[in-house]
Amino acid sequence: MMASGVRVARRALRAAAALAVAATIGIALVIPAAAQFEANRRPDRPVVVLPDGPVRSVILKDCTQCHGIDEYGYYAMDRAHWDRLIERMKTAKSGIVAGTNISDQDKEVLLDWLVDNYGPETEPFFRVYVPRPVTDANTLSAAQGQAALEAHCTECHGLDDFAGIRLDETGWRTRLVNEIARGSTLLIQDADPFIEWLARTRGAEPSDQSYNGAQ
Ligand code: HEC
Ligand code: HEC
Repeated sequence: MMASGVRVARRALRAAAALAVAATIGIALVIPAAAQFEANRRPDRPVVVLPDGPVRSVILKDCTQCHGIDEYGYYAMDRAHWDRLIERMKTAKSGIVAGTNISDQDKEVLLDWLVDNYGPETEPFFRVYVPRPVTDANTLSAAQGQAALEAHCTECHGLDDFAGIRLDETGWRTRLVNEIARGSTLLIQDADPFIEWLARTRGAEPSDQSYNGAQ
């Protein structure tokens, strides 16, 4: 509370100083309505600025053939989890480009920058999530749901740690997006069938709580 109060006060001071300067040199401070609207709007995607220095050429050489860099802002991971994501990019495919060729040396440069800027102490950018449809074809069976839990959710804590947690679909979606940001191997594009299964077997309604039963 204190800290943010101080920061706000500093920002107000800086704004006042800027106003004073503008008044002195006679700049018209009329901001067009459209610009004001833009300034007040919360961005709905992270903005990652291409850094300077050696890491800049690593990113341009190894990481921009298939997609942009803004998505890094959705993550807040330690070195080991960033390393694993980069390793995944070696076998990722996009059209005719097959995987990044990043060298071990360049990977260390990139990891230093990623952990400094998008490490576990940072707050991952809130993901505006558009659910994808779950149909008969991709609905998970009990065995598939259990397998997904074991594959993606047992690295950092035991399943018993949250065996008692019951959430509705929105609750599980929020939780899973957070676990992905922190380094779960679950891919964001595979999340919806798993969310549907969790809400069905560990839902907020008593009738959804068949997880410990036959379901
Ligand atoms: C050969 C194409 C290709 C290259 C080169 C590539 N990526 Fe990817 N990347 C993908 C694909 C495809 C996905 C989506 C599937 C996935 O997440 O595995 C992805 C997903 C990602 C994501 C997660 C996006 C999300 O959905 O939240 C991040 C972060 C990322 N890449 C970072 C990197 C970094 C860092 C590099 C450089 C070391 C890199 N990528 C190089 C193809 C590529
Ligand atoms: C990379 C490590 C990691 C992985 C993998 C992981 N979690 Fe977590 N999880 C955490 C940490 C750290 C916390 C505690 C901090 C927090 O609440 O964000 C947590 C907290 C939770 C909580 C809240 C517990 C409570 O008492 O409120 C739930 C529920 C949960 N995780 C479910 C999952 C599920 C489901 C998966 C699989 C998709 C998963 N986790 C994978 C690290 C992880």
